[in-house]
Amino acid sequence: MDGYKEFTLQIKNLCKIDLSNYKEKQMKRRIESLIRRNGLSDYDSYLKLLVTSNKHLKEFMDYITINVSEFFRNPSQWSVLENDILPVLVSKKKHLRIWSSACAAGEEPYSLALLFAKKGMLDNVDLIASDIDIKALEQAKQGSYPPKSVVNIPKPLLDKFFLKTNDTFTLKEEIKKKIDFKILNLLDDTFPQRCDLILCRNVMIYFTEEAKDKLYKKFYDALVDEGIFFVGSTEQIIMPQKYGFFSIKSFFYQKVVTR
Ligand SMILES: C[S@@+](CC[C@H](N)C(=O)[O-])C[C@H]1O[C@@H](n2cnc3c(N)ncnc32)[C@H](O)[C@@H]1O
Repeated sequence: MDGYKEFTLQIKNLCKIDLSNYKEKQMKRRIESLIRRNGLSDYDSYLKLLVTSNKHLKEFMDYITINVSEFFRNPSQWSVLENDILPVLVSKKKHLRIWSSACAAGEEPYSLALLFAKKGMLDNVDLIASDIDIKALEQAKQGSYPPKSVVNIPKPLLDKFFLKTNDTFTLKEEIKKKIDFKILNLLDDTFPQRCDLILCRNVMIYFTEEAKDKLYKKFYDALVDEGIFFVGSTEQIIMPQKYGFFSIKSFFYQKVVTR
């Protein structure tokens, strides 16, 4: 389908998402399937629909942001975090500042909170969580999940920190109130600073190389000296040293201090 470039310019004006930072082939495939699903055959008429219908604009945002997640996604990496990374961070500092930077409906920051709750250390951490998708953030604040999202949560944690009604698991207030949820576009907005640990998982895969290059630099700046950057399971950084990172474990990078 023709007209993608013009469409991206209009979308930038309409909802502040710069699609030129997302891999074109993948994004085109997704949007074109949505266009057809709406019974249309070109970008121009789809844009007209988006401009006039809030419902379709919401559907579009939902579809392109792809907020699939689950608690403790890729459990073996969370074991490394729990057993190798966090003990070192905790031993160096009494109070940690952690940012989950594409938090979807909250599964990732709540997984972090559960690790601290398990050790009775919730008061020793500030947890910031952000995403571009307002709807996902609203769900995150509610903290209610279907059974498939919670499959990786160890039973003692599930029993202790969730209320179960019918087929829904809802986090208790003591966990929910720990997370500071914010709307934040990684490609556009200022990052929280002085973080001890940043998670950016399963979102970089959608971005172009140029966008990734800028983001790695921004993540480096957002970390404290020797802070840790935790990435998704298909998102290893090709040349971490180029960005001032040292690969401390698979999927975990440490900020190298050059002084
Ligand atoms: C597949 S989910 C990953 C969720 C979680 N980090 C995980 O690994 O399970 C990708 C998330 O990235 C968000 N996202 C996409 N583009 C973004 C951007 N430019 N800024 C911030 N978040 C973005 C989406 O809204 C979505 O919630």
